[in-house]
Amino acid sequence: MPTVVFYLLIIFAIFIALFVSSIVLIIIKKTKKIGFYTLLFTIIITPIAVLLVFMPRSYTPTYLELSLPDSTKTLRQKLDSAGLYFGSIATVTDMKLPRFANTFNSITPENALKMSDLMKKDRIGEYDFSQADSIVNTALSLGYRVRGHVLVWGHLSDKYKLPDLDEYLNKFPTNERKEILTKLMYKHIDTVLHHFRGKIKIWDVVNEPFDYSNNGNYFQSVYYRYLGEEYIYMAFKRAYAKDSTIKLYLNEQLGDYTGKNAQNLIILVKKMKEQGVPIHGVGIQSHILFHIPPIEELKAYITQITELGLEVEITELDARLRLFGTYKDPYMAQAQYYNEIIDICRNNPLCTGITFWGYTDKHCWIDRDMKYICPKPNEPYLFDAHLRPKPLYYILHKKLP
Ligand code: XIL
Repeated sequence: MPTVVFYLLIIFAIFIALFVSSIVLIIIKKTKKIGFYTLLFTIIITPIAVLLVFMPRSYTPTYLELSLPDSTKTLRQKLDSAGLYFGSIATVTDMKLPRFANTFNSITPENALKMSDLMKKDRIGEYDFSQADSIVNTALSLGYRVRGHVLVWGHLSDKYKLPDLDEYLNKFPTNERKEILTKLMYKHIDTVLHHFRGKIKIWDVVNEPFDYSNNGNYFQSVYYRYLGEEYIYMAFKRAYAKDSTIKLYLNEQLGDYTGKNAQNLIILVKKMKEQGVPIHGVGIQSHILFHIPPIEELKAYITQITELGLEVEITELDARLRLFGTYKDPYMAQAQYYNEIIDICRNNPLCTGITFWGYTDKHCWIDRDMKYICPKPNEPYLFDAHLRPKPLYYILHKKLP
């Protein structure tokens, strides 16, 4: 359970207890006065307690004391030699920053390749590639690998309504909707893969097929509701038919590596392999938001996938600083956790890349999109808000030749 929700539940329980007691005290004539004071106290103290839960805490930036080893090589050169894709989401401006360019060798456009951003606003089925082209072309000209994210993602329509495919489908008779959605999905895959042919060589074909509640069920997305589980198979087959030269990934967010979703994801990819559905890899997003899954479990999970002959990439890594709040040096603890993830990947030949969902703590999607359930400090990235390197940067520089 998220820490914030836990604290809020406790506050709520205490509030109810105090509130009920004060009402009872007020009703009893003898204790009326004390009842009013208790009520007043409850009304004042509750919002203060709630504020305290959300109040940002900060930790000492111990990394300012760290120093780099003597080396003429940039981290990017070292990672290139190690044969590891090391990436971040990036805009055109980010990619040109020396800090960024000397660190990462791979980028993922954060939103520019999603249906939401490729389709013209409110004109489902019509495309505008200008934004995406400027990111992808700049990245390629600067020598970055580009991860394509993403062709089919239910949440984009169901949660973000970008675009709202249900609203679109509802304009058609019920018996036609399945076919219309199939055509739209196929057209999207064809158009996007055709456009980026030869440029983007790895794509998340389907993103987040499972439900967030970790019950092992598929997320009831618009695709699932009309096409069933089959939509996943259809998307991969179509992508392969359109461009058989690219790597096709299934990308998923897992809160742990032993729960129902993690298990069913393995069952799904096994089934895909058995049925000859073209799939080359599994992307483990790794937004570590509410609890830190044990590193050994990640290792075992990655092995389970690679034993099926599939590749793995960590595709959207961020582990919130607050989760390391009880450590003496949270920044170092966070870096060590990342370092272990990187080691697991380096030690498995089929684990080919690690991408963070950001590079500077100044721009963090969790601060923006999840502020109510993940209050600050989140600070999950390699550089702080002033672009100063954090501990992981030093650790990697030291250990990589
Ligand atoms: C997020 C972006 O970072 C946000 O800017 C946007 O508002 C919503 O999507 N899993 C994914 C990513 O696969 O595409 C999401 O990106 C984060 C969660």
